[in-house]
Amino acid sequence: MLIVLNNKCNLTKEEFLFYQHKLNTLANENIILCPSTIHIPNFKSHHLILGAQNVSSNEMGAYTGEISASQLASFNVKYCLVGHSERRVYQKEEDSDINKKIKLLLKEKIIPILCIGETKEEKNANKTKEVLTKELENALKDIATTDKEKLIIAYEPVWSIGTGLIPTTEDLTEILKIVKELLPKNKLLYGGSVTEENITMLKNCPLIDGYLLGGLSLKVSNLKDFLTKLTY
Ligand code: 13P
Repeated sequence: MLIVLNNKCNLTKEEFLFYQHKLNTLANENIILCPSTIHIPNFKSHHLILGAQNVSSNEMGAYTGEISASQLASFNVKYCLVGHSERRVYQKEEDSDINKKIKLLLKEKIIPILCIGETKEEKNANKTKEVLTKELENALKDIATTDKEKLIIAYEPVWSIGTGLIPTTEDLTEILKIVKELLPKNKLLYGGSVTEENITMLKNCPLIDGYLLGGLSLKVSNLKDFLTKLTY
């Protein structure tokens, strides 16, 4: 099982160092930490894997404030989130930007973790399949099959992020089946309000290869409970 921690825009330098120290006490080989970009140079761990939350859609040059894939690679970043709904909404990221980011990451041998998901309105209008298919097709446009297979796909329903709401096991299985049909070889993560309490239910879903954690990523003792429940 792969556990991806998305710290989002949280933790000052001192807070991050303290947090990282506690995180390092968790004995798990499959945790990818995606800290706020500013903390990447302070990443230190024997077993955690380093991820990033974002990358520029340009290779290099006059793009003030941006961080390129090659810069991330030079700090040993191994994974990078792309297409997170918060970036699609607040930074107006389009599928075409996401497609460019994926190509640049692959060139640097960084594995993209592509986030897809429908809004509440799209879910209520029965458009989930259509939305996910379109997001995947557009993000993966002109990428060779062997490269496509390297990606990790994170299904994160927008209505579930930070709300405490999660899909039923039946709905989740149905949706992940749709993704599996399109991309049979890719690892699938679920993200959205995952806690140490609902993991017992979520782990009944057979197609999940791991979880993308937001709020829970910041609470190390709850995370410890989560990992215990995940294994037993
Ligand atoms: P929460 O776990 O806080 O709902 O966030 C999920 C998420 O957006 C992870 O990328």
